[in-house]
Amino acid sequence: GRIVVLASGTGTLLQALLDATAEPAYPAGVVAVGTDRAGVGALDRARAAGVDTFSVAVRAYADRAAWDVALTEAVAAHRPDLVVSAGFMKILGPAFLSGITCPVINTHPALLPSFPGAHGVRDALAYGVKISGATVHLVDSGVDTGPILAQEAVPVLPSDTETELHERIKITERRLLVGTVAALVRGGRDRTRGDLP
Ligand code: GRF
Repeated sequence: GRIVVLASGTGTLLQALLDATAEPAYPAGVVAVGTDRAGVGALDRARAAGVDTFSVAVRAYADRAAWDVALTEAVAAHRPDLVVSAGFMKILGPAFLSGITCPVINTHPALLPSFPGAHGVRDALAYGVKISGATVHLVDSGVDTGPILAQEAVPVLPSDTETELHERIKITERRLLVGTVAALVRGGRDRTRGDLP
């Protein structure tokens, strides 16, 4: 299976996928990594793995709709069987969701539907939860709202800072993402969004 990964940051989730897909037994390969900005660690990690990269910066386009179309074209050019948003910090718009017909999944560092959005870890910590976790879900037109594919709980310690909790969650998130991607790709390439188990 041909996987395109979208990222915005350091790319440790991407790295987990690059490491897993490097194993001959893993049923998929990362064919390209896309970001919404240049100069992020995810791009360096992709290059180090010999994987194609592209960057589609919002400010390079007249408006969000034009950016959405440009991102769609850049992703579609790699003929993905699966798109993985791994720390991609932009909402995928209508052009993307209609233009990309293969499954699109996202990973979120909280137990959705609790604490969606760009600050899930901070919000959970501020709320005082004792258990948080990681979620992998299908992307739909909302923010962190698509059908849930996998979740795993992660304990919150009283002394946790946002960074400490996020790093603990990311350990689980990386394992959850790699396992979910393998299951999806083994599940058959001709699936359209939404009819997955
Ligand atoms: C992950 O926890 C992801 O869920 C969140 O941001 C983090 C990205 O981490 N949106 P990295 O860039 O993969 O290290």
